[in-house]
Amino acid sequence: MAILITGGAGYIGSVTVELLEAEGLTPVVVDNLSRGYREAVPDHVPFYLGNIGDRALIRRILDEQPITACMHFSAFAYVGESVERPQDYFQNNFVETSALVDELIAADVKQFVFSSTCATYGEPRTVPIDENHEQHPTNPYGWSKLFVERMLSAYDAAYGLRFVALRYFNAAGATKACRERHDPETHLIPLALKAAAGEIPELLLFGDDYPTPDGTAIRDYIHVSDLARAHILAFRILKKAAKANS
Ligand SMILES: NC(=O)c1ccc[n+]([C@@H]2O[C@H](COP(=O)([O-])OP(=O)(O)OC[C@H]3O[C@@H](n4cnc5c(N)ncnc54)[C@H](O)[C@@H]3O)[C@@H](O)[C@H]2O)c1
Repeated sequence: MAILITGGAGYIGSVTVELLEAEGLTPVVVDNLSRGYREAVPDHVPFYLGNIGDRALIRRILDEQPITACMHFSAFAYVGESVERPQDYFQNNFVETSALVDELIAADVKQFVFSSTCATYGEPRTVPIDENHEQHPTNPYGWSKLFVERMLSAYDAAYGLRFVALRYFNAAGATKACRERHDPETHLIPLALKAAAGEIPELLLFGDDYPTPDGTAIRDYIHVSDLARAHILAFRILKKAAKANS
């Protein structure tokens, strides 16, 4: 039994690979390295270089590896870039995911954990945001992820694809083996560390009129290891449900 990890050479995917192995589970990675690093995946982990939307590649992986579930991390994930280049975001995040999911269903792989995002909520009407909060994204990145969520719901009802969509806020932190390494780096904590280490001249904090003591935003962070653990728990719930129904 193995789990297909899309985007496993990226930040959150590589930490999840590390934790899966620590729990005795078997990851198989597919990544096109557009934003990831080959060295983030240990050599002994099966690694396929390519696009998740490449149906022939996905079919080959499903043929060669005993895949029973998928954790889907691969995506483009910069809000600003999504506004400038929405075609890239709908293509990479939605169209390619649709092809991947088609191939999984065809191979009867029906357990799917999806990296969604808080960006699917848009401007919060109530805080804290609970998972029943209305979803109305304010940028193409959020929409591209919400489209996938809607597609997964329809496929659950029609084809029995069982899924968990985790709408995360900001991931932060590192493990001994893996770290955050985006290029360009836009995430606040690595930028703060770079500024403290003198690698960049200053740390720019955007927004100074929020209703907070100093006017800057209050943001939610989750440690990347906790996030990886959440994926594994989601996978275990899907696996348990599949067993109960078989
Ligand atoms: N980092 C965060 O704070 C955060 C917050 C909310 C949601 N997310 C979501 O979590 C997921 C992982 O985020 P991350 O920070 O690890 O990003 P990342 O850019 O470090 O990792 C994404 C990986 O996917 C790969 N990839 C992209 N498109 C691909 C494709 N078509 N085929 C194959 N590989 C492809 C990239 O090469 C990269 O290795 C993303 O889906 C993102 O939307 C991240």
